[in-house]
Amino acid sequence: MTQQQVLPADEAEMVHEEHVELRANLEELDRALSRLRFDSETHGELRGASELGTMVRRFQAFLPLHFQHEEKSVLDSVSAVSSELMELTAQFKREHQYLSYLFEAFTEAASNLVGADDLTSEVARIKLLGEAFTEQFRRHMSVEETELAGFL
Ligand SMILES: [Fe+2]
Ligand SMILES: [Fe+2]
Repeated sequence: MTQQQVLPADEAEMVHEEHVELRANLEELDRALSRLRFDSETHGELRGASELGTMVRRFQAFLPLHFQHEEKSVLDSVSAVSSELMELTAQFKREHQYLSYLFEAFTEAASNLVGADDLTSEVARIKLLGEAFTEQFRRHMSVEETELAGFL
């Protein structure tokens, strides 16, 4: 089965381009996370919070749109092909919910950072939450691209 029979080529192409853009943004988010620092030794200075905020807002705007777009344009069409693909696309949709949950937990921690009492431990927690999101999201996209290789 070729992708033209299941989905319009331009829809598949758009989702593919969104993945490319998301991966570039994940790299920027990783960089922002690695630059986030609280230096309690010197002036108690918090660094990198505004850059991190920029990346969080970018994902807040893009992530739900990507999931919606991919589900409507790709997953719903592919799921009609076979019962295996129906199961697989249902799994991808569950992963979208899980990734949204991981992103939400990260966003909430990042948004409350500036007013936090213990900045050292909050910075460490945000890095862990952010890394969990970027790692799981990359894995999800790779599996999608491998498993839906004939369609995307
Ligand atoms: Fe997906
Ligand atoms: Fe995707």
